[in-house]
Amino acid sequence: MIKKIPIYFLTLFVSIYLESSNNLPIIDYGSISHPEIGTGGMVVSQRKIASEVGAEILRQGGNAVDAAVATALALAVVLPRAGNLGGGGFMLVYSEELKKTIAIDYREMAPLQASRDMFLDEKGNYDRRKAQFSLLSAGVPGTVAGLYYALNKYGTLSWGEVLDPAIKLAEDGFVVPHDLSSVLSNYKKRLTANEATAKAYYKTNKETYSAGEVIKLPDLAWSLKELKKVGPDAFYKGKIAEKIVAEMQLNGGLITAKDLANYKVKERLPLQGTFKGYEIVSMPPSSSGGVHLIQMLNMLEPFSLKEMGFGSAQSIHLMSEVMKRAYADRSKYLGDTDFVSVPLKGLTDKEYAKALLKEISLKKVTPSKSISNGNPLPYESPDTTHFSVMDSEGNVVSNTYTLNFSYGSGIVIPGTGILMNNEMDDFSSKKGVPNAYGLVGYEANEIEGQKRPLSSMTPTIVFKNKKPYLVLGSPGGSRIITTVLQVALNVLEHDMSVKQAVVSPRVHHQWLPDVLLMEEGFSPDTVTLLGEMGHTIRSSRTMGSVQAIIYKDKYFYGAADPRRPSSGAVAVNP
Ligand code: GLY
Repeated sequence: MIKKIPIYFLTLFVSIYLESSNNLPIIDYGSISHPEIGTGGMVVSQRKIASEVGAEILRQGGNAVDAAVATALALAVVLPRAGNLGGGGFMLVYSEELKKTIAIDYREMAPLQASRDMFLDEKGNYDRRKAQFSLLSAGVPGTVAGLYYALNKYGTLSWGEVLDPAIKLAEDGFVVPHDLSSVLSNYKKRLTANEATAKAYYKTNKETYSAGEVIKLPDLAWSLKELKKVGPDAFYKGKIAEKIVAEMQLNGGLITAKDLANYKVKERLPLQGTFKGYEIVSMPPSSSGGVHLIQMLNMLEPFSLKEMGFGSAQSIHLMSEVMKRAYADRSKYLGDTDFVSVPLKGLTDKEYAKALLKEISLKKVTPSKSISNGNPLPYESPDTTHFSVMDSEGNVVSNTYTLNFSYGSGIVIPGTGILMNNEMDDFSSKKGVPNAYGLVGYEANEIEGQKRPLSSMTPTIVFKNKKPYLVLGSPGGSRIITTVLQVALNVLEHDMSVKQAVVSPRVHHQWLPDVLLMEEGFSPDTVTLLGEMGHTIRSSRTMGSVQAIIYKDKYFYGAADPRRPSSGAVAVNP
């Protein structure tokens, strides 16, 4: 217990108080990391150059949706490992005019000819190469349709206006950052195995571009210009579609002209929960993200993590036990609600959370093998990248989209510069057999033609007194949901600045395997105490890459995750 507050801290508190009471931004000088601050809006993405594109759209009078679509298209050029035209994703739009949040599902769809056992070999074993690195691994991409849908319905600018910056980046080229050079070098063997990918992303002799050199993407520029000239039909019915179908026919893919023409964006009702007076709005299936974010927050609500202390063994133990229960339910119940019935209401019910809590000991680990999914039915009445945008009118966009792995299947459709996703691996190919993220699944997530594979993407908006307060999301496969959970808790429960919340170390448990992953940065004492409680601990590489914004007292506070180089928050100031 601290009895005396040193004079230094008193001065600090007074200075913080004075600044906020003078209508100046709140700068917490007690925090190690500081957000970008703006008064006219904010764009945060995994590439600062793409955030600049979005911010410029805001400066020119575009709204958050215009800026988001322009940012997404720019990321498809400058962040090829996750930004994309050949993948899919999820966008939440809060419209201040409509006073509501819209969930846009532009997840990939399985081709019509896809079937439950398509990734099993003749012995009935899961064939990883087919499921992850062949044209069979590609779902029908949703990105172009999803971005066009969002712009058309909720934006103010024309399709051409938001495409122009991406066309310029692809045609004139952009300076290769160390991050891109290094990742292309690491993935060289896999990516140069495909001729069109080697042509697009490496020099003529398959050498990697060095940081500081300019890379041009002429085929991708052609595709973007086709999209500008013809609209999204260029991708689903026109010249780009023809090239996709030709490559599928030549090299054993399943996507047909009919699959492309049939692709459908789905506008869904977002999932809503509450946590200690905040309203949580997140993504419904075909993502599992929102369901389990709300389920975990419900289970944590009765506790004060703040009193337990950030990074304490007690708080990590509790979070880990909660995570295990949520992921056990994910494996059993979650799938595409257009095909299977998911007990969404039960899973996000506060009484169900209380029932699950009864099984948790605050002192001792419950081994995963003695946890199975709970029963939410009685409570029933279902390398990625994220960016966040807020504009001065009060509109918000929270968008996560992906190719699945870094560079997806690694296969570029010749002549288009477009990398194809390998999202079919997010289905459960064989009951109980883990996918690339170690996630297991059962019937609800089986492969079926036109079904959407289950995702973990968790674009989220948190409201305070009915106004957007925090917007966030992350890549990270199975770790997305727990990453978003912890950054939200850091803000809502630990009162951290948004930057400190993003920077602080994270943990992850997903039920199976029964392992608690911990990033660097926790005290060795904490790790020892967790070991004594029975946790099996593994240290982990960094988890997620959160791009978040807080709006408070007329100021936007943007935080890009330093876990990924060259990410950036760009503030708009009048
Ligand atoms: N491909 C990762 C996810 O959608 O969760």
